[in-house]
Amino acid sequence: MSATSNTVRFALPGWPWQRLLKPAVFIMALSPFIYLLHALLTGQLGPNPIDTLTDQTGTLAIRMLLISLALTPLRWVVKNTWPIRVRRMLGLFAFFYAFLHVGIYFVLDQQLDLAVLWSDLSERPFIVAGTVAFVILVPLAMTSTNKMARRLGKRWLSLHRGVYLAGTAAVVHYVWLAKGDLVEPFIYLAILLLLFAYRFVRLAK
Ligand code: HEM
Repeated sequence: MSATSNTVRFALPGWPWQRLLKPAVFIMALSPFIYLLHALLTGQLGPNPIDTLTDQTGTLAIRMLLISLALTPLRWVVKNTWPIRVRRMLGLFAFFYAFLHVGIYFVLDQQLDLAVLWSDLSERPFIVAGTVAFVILVPLAMTSTNKMARRLGKRWLSLHRGVYLAGTAAVVHYVWLAKGDLVEPFIYLAILLLLFAYRFVRLAK
């Protein structure tokens, strides 16, 4: 537990809420995966299942990432540490969905064909921003355990601040690729800017 969270008392309503928090969040975060798997196996993903899967997993990854980022300021707003208790789990779910998203794109869509990948990259440069986001998320997921946090000490905190960079690259990726209806990507951009503003104001204070 971080130094800041020591100063904020954990005050969720008593039993059973404290025990239910993590399993409830786990089930909520996993249920879209179960839904997608079911839709895939029962042929309910529309005429282009690979496109649907790419879009759905990308959206899930960015949502989980932004929610996990929002949990830190939420702790300050609610003056309670319960958001921190589920932050790592949601960060890992963001990675899980990003991993599926990237895997579906590389393996199912591009069939690991480097020439096809290269030409897609030159036609759709937004993929570079997605790659940056993913590359940042990998070491964060790999060092997310308490053991790694202890081993890396202060460097762990600096490394994990990279999650803001990953969030920015992911939002750039989405805003860049979006055509037509721009509402959703701009909502994510607004959320990201709000999170930056909140952190900035707190730092300034
Ligand atoms: C190697 C990394 C990545 C690659 C190659 C990649 C590739 C793609 C592709 C091909 C699409 C579909 C574009 C289209 O519909 O025309 C897409 C959409 C998307 N990606 Fe990625 N992506 C990557 C990483 C990420 C990451 C890390 C995130 C989020 C954390 C993300 C979030 C999204 C979102 C939100 C969409 C739009 C979904 C929608 O249209 O509803 N991507 N990505």
